[in-house]
Amino acid sequence: MTVAAIVPAAGRGERLGLGRPKALAVVGGLTLVARAVDGLVEGGVDVVVVVAPPGGEDEFRAALDHRRATVVPGADDRVGSVAAALGAVPRDAEVVLVHDAARCLCPPEVVRAVIDAVRAGHRAVVPATPVADTLKRTGPAGVVIATVDRTGLAAVQTPQGFDPATLRAAHEHARSGRDAGGPVTATDDAGLAEEIGVSVATVPGDPRAFKVTTPLDLAMAEALVAAATAGAS
Ligand code: C5P
Repeated sequence: MTVAAIVPAAGRGERLGLGRPKALAVVGGLTLVARAVDGLVEGGVDVVVVVAPPGGEDEFRAALDHRRATVVPGADDRVGSVAAALGAVPRDAEVVLVHDAARCLCPPEVVRAVIDAVRAGHRAVVPATPVADTLKRTGPAGVVIATVDRTGLAAVQTPQGFDPATLRAAHEHARSGRDAGGPVTATDDAGLAEEIGVSVATVPGDPRAFKVTTPLDLAMAEALVAAATAGAS
């Protein structure tokens, strides 16, 4: 009963401004990618495939130390990076998750809930949280065009969970669309599954699964880890 996870971490993470891949940023003495892998394993994942920037594989292997993870080189965009990792997912996997390394503090309970929902028969599952802010659509020069009704809107996180055949089919479809010259507009894997008509279920997300994107996010992650360490001692 193998549960696999793909961790796309091949982005440059320029918004963080560190001059190295974001997944190698350090929080509380551990890289984001190592923390992300630890959270997945604690949540019930057996096999992890980490996608590193091409040429950066050894640096990632060093960051992952003794962890149970295979490192593969990524592609030009996130969809390509996930597709590259699918080739390293064991054929007998029953569930496959896709989890951004940048969401390195995602609690293991969220990982477990996603796995359980796929095991219960959902072909695609995302953690979702309600949207707290008022949302506006803006136009040229940032002028507000409309207030968006936020009823029924959710912010979606990772790990996203899939039955492996569904994730493979969604990526095949995305690739053939792109080969035919079409744009890839989906920004997550569930979006690719939606494009082939798969119904996507939700489980409750968690604010700690926020994506480290900016220096402020990194400082927040640092503070959360410090608070958890102080609480545990
Ligand atoms: O840019 P963004 O934060 O949306 O990227 C989401 C995730 O996809 C990041 O973890 C990033 O490293 C990964 N990614 C990738 N391959 C790319 C671009 C992004 O694995 N070519």
